[in-house]
Amino acid sequence: MQLNDDELLRLITTEDKSEIESLFAQARKAREDYYGKSIYFRGLIEFTNYCKNDCYYCGIRCSNSKLERYRLSQNEILDCCRRGDKLGYKTFVLQGGEDPWFSDERLAQIISAIRSEFPEHAITLSIGEHSRGSYELFFREGANRFLLRHETSSVDHYAKLHPPSMTLENRKRCLRDLKETGYQTGAGFMVGTPHQTLELLLADLRYLEELQPEMAGVGPFIPHKDTPFAAHPAGNLSLSLKMLALVRIILPKALIPATTAISTIASNGRELALNAGANVIMPNLTPQTNKKLYQIYDHKLTDEDDAVENHLRLVEMIRSAGLEPDMGRGDAKR
Ligand code: 5AD
Repeated sequence: MQLNDDELLRLITTEDKSEIESLFAQARKAREDYYGKSIYFRGLIEFTNYCKNDCYYCGIRCSNSKLERYRLSQNEILDCCRRGDKLGYKTFVLQGGEDPWFSDERLAQIISAIRSEFPEHAITLSIGEHSRGSYELFFREGANRFLLRHETSSVDHYAKLHPPSMTLENRKRCLRDLKETGYQTGAGFMVGTPHQTLELLLADLRYLEELQPEMAGVGPFIPHKDTPFAAHPAGNLSLSLKMLALVRIILPKALIPATTAISTIASNGRELALNAGANVIMPNLTPQTNKKLYQIYDHKLTDEDDAVENHLRLVEMIRSAGLEPDMGRGDAKR
């Protein structure tokens, strides 16, 4: 559906309950047109909280010296995959900071080991900015998908959220390289970051429309106490849900997760995100002691200790929302 800028801005700002409800209904309809009632699972593995970058919003930024750092070994990562496989998950998401210890060679080895043990599974990487050559290498080793949020589509705003060593230009270069390499590619942004305006949110929607990513992540900004943005308020729940619904309407075929960030600011955040058009749930497979240290923001929701119990609760939640847990790979509809 085509929406002009004025219509989009009005929907972004509306506080009218019935208008918001009809926006969500439209988003659910767009999802249903391509995916029916299916909600897909991705097993998330947060394999390193070391990061060479210093993003002003992020708790694992390199200058946060208070954070205890960890890396999972290849065996630990494979164990996470095995636990996810037992639960029926057909996608593993390897997410981490930009950690130079995980060189191209080490990453290639890990991807190849997962690929040979799980020939049918999808492997998603969420490991930040790399050269085109590295992306091609990881793809050859068996990675299929890549998540790299653009964070904001404005050069000025990007510079207010990141140190000068990081540029929107390079982020966009990465996203183009990923698409051209053949990855199902995910972009996305936070809602409520410092200095964000409604016009910037509109520009984020337009950027996604232009890029046509197969996946899109949208969630509220949440402050982290040991970052420059510690005192900034978290993104608004209603605005985050409206943005999610608009992304669904603009990209009806996209795979859109109910993000952990939404569940962190609202206890029923996952239900609310599904109601607004999300169709992916990402249960965390990271070992308990490590995932507590993957603190990109304060009070990050951690799933129940028991992965089986947690999974069954999610299945129940999806069904009671009138949707169907789908244990397939859940590739993007092209
Ligand atoms: N609040 C919400 N989301 C955050 N991210 C990083 N820091 C925060 C924060 N403080 C998001 C970014 C990143 C993704 C992995 O997590 O959008 O791309």
